[in-house]
Amino acid sequence: MQTSECFFPISTSRNQIGHIQVAGHDLCTLAEQWGTPLYIYDAQTIRTRTQEAIDMVSSAYAGESAVSYAAKAYFSLGLARKLSQLHLKLDAVSLGEMLIAQKGGFDAQNVHLHGNNKSKEELHFALHWGIENIVVDSLEELSLLETVAQEMGRKARIWLRITPGVDVDTHPYVQTAHVASKFGIPMEEGQALHAIQQCKSSRWLNLVGLHTHIGSQVFDLDPYVRAIRMLIWLAEEAEYIPQEISPGGGWGVPYREDDDRFDPREMLQAISAAIQDECRRLNWPLPKLVVEPGRWIIARAGVAIYSVGSTKFSGNGLYIVALDGGMADNPRPALYQSRYSACLLGRPDAIPQHRAALVGRFCESGDQLISEIMLPEVRRGDYIAIPMAGAYQLSMSSNYNLVPRPAVLWLEDGKTEILQKRESIADIDWWN
Ligand SMILES: Cc1ncc(COP(=O)(O)O)c(C=O)c1O
Repeated sequence: MQTSECFFPISTSRNQIGHIQVAGHDLCTLAEQWGTPLYIYDAQTIRTRTQEAIDMVSSAYAGESAVSYAAKAYFSLGLARKLSQLHLKLDAVSLGEMLIAQKGGFDAQNVHLHGNNKSKEELHFALHWGIENIVVDSLEELSLLETVAQEMGRKARIWLRITPGVDVDTHPYVQTAHVASKFGIPMEEGQALHAIQQCKSSRWLNLVGLHTHIGSQVFDLDPYVRAIRMLIWLAEEAEYIPQEISPGGGWGVPYREDDDRFDPREMLQAISAAIQDECRRLNWPLPKLVVEPGRWIIARAGVAIYSVGSTKFSGNGLYIVALDGGMADNPRPALYQSRYSACLLGRPDAIPQHRAALVGRFCESGDQLISEIMLPEVRRGDYIAIPMAGAYQLSMSSNYNLVPRPAVLWLEDGKTEILQKRESIADIDWWN
C-alpha cells in the first residue's frame, strides 16, 4: 500500500508478525482494545521534535530564543500536562486554550494570546492571569485592549501582529500575510506605524515585540526572510527598537512521498542572518527570537486508525472503501484538498490491486480521506492507519451528523494514557 514508514511516528517498528507498532504497541491490538476511530500520539516524536526545534533555533541565532507551540494544531488537557514539562511556550487563541494551558501546568509567563477577534472576556482573563504577551491583531483591538488594561489597572505586555504583504506558495486558506489577509495589522496606509506610535504614547500598552505569521505548510525560505526584514524596517521607520521578534510558525511537513521537503534549520539560519545583519546595521541589540511551530512538532506524532465498513465498486470501477471516521475527525482533505497515505494493518503481505477511494462515513460527497490509492481487497473490520494525523485534525473536529469524537491515546514504551476519552452520546449535554 502507498505509505512509507517514515511518515509514521519516530518510535515505529514492525513486530515478529509484521504488524506496525508504535512505542512497542501493536496498532491492531490497540484498535481491538480501544475501538475505532482511534487516534494515537507518540511521546518520543513530540519530545524529539520539541528538542530539535529548541536546538535548531538556539544554534542558528546568536541572541536569546524560544519555541512556542501553536496549540491550535492539537491541544487537550492531557497533552497540556505533557507539553508544560518541555521548555515550550504556548501560542493560545481562545479562553478555552488558555484555561487548558493553566490547568495543564503552563506558567502564565510562557503563554501568548493570539487571534484575530479576541473577546473582552479573553483579554480580561489574559491580563488577570498575567500571560507573557497579548498579540494584538488590529488597531481596533489595540484600543479595546488599552481600555480593558486601564479599567483593570494593569499594563498589557504586547506584540503587534504585522501583515507585511508577503505571498506564500501554499493553499490560499492557509496564507496569512498577503495584503488581503484577515490577520494582522497591514503596513499599508501607515496602519502598522500608527499602531506602534499609539503604543509608545500609551500608559497601558507595553510594546515589547513585533510578530508575523506568513502561513502554514510553507516550503520556501524567501518569504520568511522578506517578512522578518520588513518587520525590522517598519521598526526602524517608527524609531522603535523591538526586544522580541517572531516570524510565527508554518514550517512545512511532507504527508506523502511526492510532497516537497522543508528544512527548518536552513530557514532559521536565513532569518537569523537577516536579523543579525539588520541589527548590526542599525546598531541595535539582538531581539529575542520566538518561533511558533505547531504542525512540525505534532503532525508526525499522530496516527488515525479506522475500521473498514461498507465496500463497493462505483459505476466507474473505483473501489469505494468506507471508514468509520472521516471529515468530522479530519476536515483537512475537505477544507484544503490535503493528501495522505494509508496502510492496511494486520495483513502486511496483502497485495494492492484495486484503484480505491478511502471515504468517510459522513453525509457529504467531499468526505473522502484519500480520493485515490491502491488497496488490496479489504473486508469489514479490517483496520486502516493514516499517518501524519497529529495536526489540525482533532483540533478542528466536529460532531457532524451527531457522531461522537474518537478516543485519543498517548503512547510511551510499555504505557498508554488517555489524552481524550472516546465521546459518547451520553457525554454531550446538548444532545440530551
Ligand atoms: C500566529 C500563528 N503562529 C503559529 C501557527 C502555527 O502554524 P503551523 O502549525 O503551520 O506551524 C499559526 C497557525 O495558524 C498561527 O496562526
